[in-house]
Amino acid sequence: MNKILLIISALMLLASTQVIAADAAAGKVKSAQCAACHGANGISPMGIYPNLAGQKEQYTIKQMKDFKSGARKDPTMQAMVAALSDEDIANLAAFYASIK
Ligand code: HEC
Repeated sequence: MNKILLIISALMLLASTQVIAADAAAGKVKSAQCAACHGANGISPMGIYPNLAGQKEQYTIKQMKDFKSGARKDPTMQAMVAALSDEDIANLAAFYASIK
């Protein structure tokens, strides 16, 4: 039993110290679910949806986290980010920031 606890704590320590390196390619794959509103290349096809292409990475991360926490309120976006991990958010932001 103690051994199992030790292994679990070791794994948790590993996970928490793992540096999250943003991966724009992974973000691009994830962005398929955003394309209907924000466009496949981050340029929105409709006036009511913002462009995301070329946006500052840190800003995009903050907006997504704010939608998730409810600090920024929009029912549509709240639903969109609910299932995203911090890693997904970082990857998506890296992808949109990488578009010229
Ligand atoms: C059904 C349409 C829809 C989908 C799908 C959608 N969004 Fe949005 N998104 C919106 C709307 C509408 C807003 C503007 C919200 C507001 O007015 O605050 C927005 C705003 C944003 C913003 C803030 C932009 C800014 O300039 O402040 C970000 C970042 C964003 N969306 C990212 C995403 C990502 C990433 C996905 C995919 C995981 C996604 N969205 C999917 C509709 C959508």
